[in-house]
Amino acid sequence: MCGIVAYLGPKQAYPILINGLRRLEYRGYDSAGVALLNSKLNVYKTKGKVADLEEFVRDVDISGTIGIAHTRWATHGEPNYANAHPHFSQSKNIALIHNGIIENYAPLRKELETRGYKFESNTDTEVLTNLIEDIKINENVSLFEAVRIALNQVIGAYAIVVIDANDPNSLIAARKGSPLVIGIGKDDYFVASDATPIIEHTKNVVYLDEEEIALIKRDSDLKIKTIRNKEKTPYIQALEMNLSALEKGGFEHFMLKEIYEQPSSIRDSMRGRLHAEAGSVSLGGIIDYEQKMVNASRIIIVACGTSWHAGLVGEYLFEDIARIPVEVEYASEFRYRNPVIYESDVVIAISQSGETADTLAAIELAKSKGATILGICNVVGSSIARATHAGSYTHAGPEIGVASTKAFTAQVTLLTLMALRMAQLKGTLTKSRFIQLLHEMERIPEKVQKTLEVSKKVIEIAEQFKDVRNFLYLGRGYNFPVALEGALKLKEISYIHAEGYPAAEMKHGPIALIDEEMPVVFIATNKGTYDKVVSNIQEVKARKGKVIAIVTEGDVTVRGMADYVIEIPETEEMFVPLLATIPLQKLSYHIAVMRGCNVDQPRNLAKSVTVE
Ligand code: G6P
Repeated sequence: MCGIVAYLGPKQAYPILINGLRRLEYRGYDSAGVALLNSKLNVYKTKGKVADLEEFVRDVDISGTIGIAHTRWATHGEPNYANAHPHFSQSKNIALIHNGIIENYAPLRKELETRGYKFESNTDTEVLTNLIEDIKINENVSLFEAVRIALNQVIGAYAIVVIDANDPNSLIAARKGSPLVIGIGKDDYFVASDATPIIEHTKNVVYLDEEEIALIKRDSDLKIKTIRNKEKTPYIQALEMNLSALEKGGFEHFMLKEIYEQPSSIRDSMRGRLHAEAGSVSLGGIIDYEQKMVNASRIIIVACGTSWHAGLVGEYLFEDIARIPVEVEYASEFRYRNPVIYESDVVIAISQSGETADTLAAIELAKSKGATILGICNVVGSSIARATHAGSYTHAGPEIGVASTKAFTAQVTLLTLMALRMAQLKGTLTKSRFIQLLHEMERIPEKVQKTLEVSKKVIEIAEQFKDVRNFLYLGRGYNFPVALEGALKLKEISYIHAEGYPAAEMKHGPIALIDEEMPVVFIATNKGTYDKVVSNIQEVKARKGKVIAIVTEGDVTVRGMADYVIEIPETEEMFVPLLATIPLQKLSYHIAVMRGCNVDQPRNLAKSVTVE
């Protein structure tokens, strides 16, 4: 996925654009570019990161009070100069930046080639740029109208900003399937993929809706139309985000900062929702759909990546305490499997970014079958948040590190609250047990804080195992998804191969991998299937594997068997994932740092995956 930023106003555009690109680099970072208009429309672009672009423009003319800029994560064509954005049209009168994918770019390109267009890149974006130019010339219409007509011919997803060499006073922006926000300053406009590049300039924003085009004109009001030519009134909202939340706050990496934010992010996720004293849980966002949930024949959870792991924790929660059957689905499989969906189903879509293409498509499919769709998203105003019937935001704050940490624990927090609310409504727990759980949940942020204090031990373990080639993570029950998430975190940022498994399944395959070189991380907290996990640890020790165990404070049995133990505070079994995940995040982090990996921007990954 790509990051888009644009500026129009009285100031010099370049510093604003480059700053904005730096904030958006988490969206993709294989090439970057900028187009600036003064007397001439100049496009500068380069393979690599935003810092490479800054180096590249050191000796060129970067003046201009209007411009567009882009940081790319390749979807069509390898990451190189030619494929980097912005793309010029053939006449060089139009330049365009794009996030998304034009699915029918091949026939459009063919058609344009027969009309004499030559292409410099392999991108779908250059096709769209020339399509707009072709329409503008042949239909003799304004650029805005040409963009509108072109977008009616396009199948796929886009967030675009277009600049015209002959009009230093206008930008045109449009979106479908990829996000776009317009910031409205005193006498200037900002456009970006999300609000992070905008917030330091203005708090007033308009989120473009699906298939909307905006005409952004100097000294004029913002005008919005749909691509079907219907006028829309811009809805201006005030951003509540705080700029300091977007910066590293003294930590070496965003990921570490985000790991340490978890006591407060979990507290924020519970704020105003958990009322232990009053003995209730309230989730305002889904209040109108609670009865649907209570009556649901089942809940289907759709998600990808880390959010899918949160969904698995949700399955244990809803079944355990609210007695509602749950299926957890990879959105990408669900959408293509011709799944059986009933109108009585409640689908919960979980997504940090709220932009994941597969999750969005799974939602649309379930919606078309009449199911009720609820969302759990972190990014306010994101596509998934808007595509669902209702939902609850996680309120974890912006997550910049590509590997998800605080968003995961916030998702689990929200699922826990939802399951508790269902248990309350369905009466599946006794009143006293329910209240006891609420009181314990209230203490989770302070227990997370305590869990964060185990650094020394984690660093010692990281030092010991940083050079191994494989890791195995094992857990049972609520701790099985924790094992999966621990393994995912390690492979994402350290590039060490790691597998998560249900501990009992080990004997059906992974046990063959165990030798004296193999570190096996057990999540062996003292509830549920503890005794069974102890047996699994013995099986590993018998084969000389190295055991790293996450245990409950005061544990003696596992301590006597494991090579390394990390203690976490005692809590109810259903809350253990919120604590046990923390040392695993830290272990991955320290191993990755010791291996010299780029923790915040791991290779080949992107924060928000808006293509399938
Ligand atoms: C990408 C990210 C993962 C994330 C997944 C789902 O692959 O790198 O960290 O878990 O997308 O993203 P979502 O925003 O839908 O939670």
